[in-house]
Amino acid sequence: MNSATQRRRADYDEAPYGSSVRPVPSPDHLAAVAHLFGVDPPAVDTARILEIGCASGANLLPFASAYPEATVVGIDLSGVQIAAGRHTAAAKGLRNVTLLHGDIAEFDLNPFGPFDFIVCHGVYSWVPDHVREAVLDTIRTALAPRGVAYVSYDVYPGWKTKEVLRDFLTRFDHPGGKPAERARRARTLIDFLGDVAPAGSELERLVLTYLSTSGQIGDNYLLHEELERLISPCYFVDFVERLDAHELVYLADARPDTMYAANYAEEAAQRLIEECESQLELEQRLDFVGNRAFRQSLVVPACRAGQIRYDVGPARFPLLHFASRLPAADGFTRFDHSSQYYGEPGTRQIYTNDHGVKAALDVLTACWPHTVSWHRLTRAVRERLTGAGLEPPADLQTRIDMLLQMLIVRGLVCYRLDPVAPIDDPTAPSMFTR
Ligand SMILES: C[S@@+](CC[C@H](N)C(=O)[O-])C[C@H]1O[C@@H](n2cnc3c(N)ncnc32)[C@H](O)[C@@H]1O
Repeated sequence: MNSATQRRRADYDEAPYGSSVRPVPSPDHLAAVAHLFGVDPPAVDTARILEIGCASGANLLPFASAYPEATVVGIDLSGVQIAAGRHTAAAKGLRNVTLLHGDIAEFDLNPFGPFDFIVCHGVYSWVPDHVREAVLDTIRTALAPRGVAYVSYDVYPGWKTKEVLRDFLTRFDHPGGKPAERARRARTLIDFLGDVAPAGSELERLVLTYLSTSGQIGDNYLLHEELERLISPCYFVDFVERLDAHELVYLADARPDTMYAANYAEEAAQRLIEECESQLELEQRLDFVGNRAFRQSLVVPACRAGQIRYDVGPARFPLLHFASRLPAADGFTRFDHSSQYYGEPGTRQIYTNDHGVKAALDVLTACWPHTVSWHRLTRAVRERLTGAGLEPPADLQTRIDMLLQMLIVRGLVCYRLDPVAPIDDPTAPSMFTR
């Protein structure tokens, strides 16, 4: 283990990350996104899962509990965090979890794989280059042929702006000091910048943007993000190129709404789409449009490249279960021909006068936070329309599919390959917490 890795281990032992359950890298979400883009994933309930840099397993343990037939493996450099995770797993009686203490660049994971899902969140950009290589090499060698991996990383151009603040904080940081003292010092420095930044200046915008997103940030996040000595953001296309060298390909973003031009620049969207020769080029351009700083990419073996489809269409819907909460802004649906808004005020809303669309939004909202299958949704919409004394239109299915497509593109619907249904235990994780 080289000195940079030893330092990293000491950092995380001294100030554990305090990781939490993350819905986006959850295998059931990854599986649904992979399916949507044409790549059929392994079944989640019996899957073999690996998390690289799992900290104390906060992300893995709820999953292991929800899916007792799954096999869950986590590896982390920090012995303190792994010991905490093992303690929690034992206290919860979880038998399907193995937490390994080691360096991903040195550990032999062969006896534990292959894995159907590999998750690496919050690690790739915060480690030395040889560890980044090891992460991709582990995905190449340990991911099952039908498997799906997830890697999150910091990206330019958004990080160019963030680097200004980070350079200021790290320049006046005392790396050898006590973690709590370093975090306090960093907060004082940010407050100082806020006090002295001229009104309307670039610096003021920078500090205000930081403060608007940092309200919930705890000391450990501050230490391992803003004060991290080693952060290596990259451009999206450079990440994709590196995948290529490991016989891997980019499949999609774990937040598919970020892949569509219409969500960034409605006016210029069509021009952007026409000018870009590939989805990759479009997404790189969108990173500039949105000044993006962070990405969560789904990655699959290169042999699956031919299956990937970016035209998200109804052909992929019949196996999916959908959940969305978009209540009528007026409080109830009017089945006349009037136009109505759906969605909470202040959030992205849908505007429609279509009976079928209104009924579909009512059905989804009534079921939230649980899912409705594609088949059940159409049946329930028919029932709702006939109950209101209306004849369902002949093209009802097409209208529902167009609505689902629009909700997916705008990021207004969740989807899964397995239903998320009410369960007896009110404390059990719902689809948004596991
Ligand atoms: C920012 S934390 C993210 C934790 C967790 N994945 C999450 O999402 O909350 C990064 C983790 O990666 C671990 N890590 C760093 N270098 C590593 C390496 N070479 N091998 C294994 N784990 C490593 C750290 O110990 C730390 O727990």
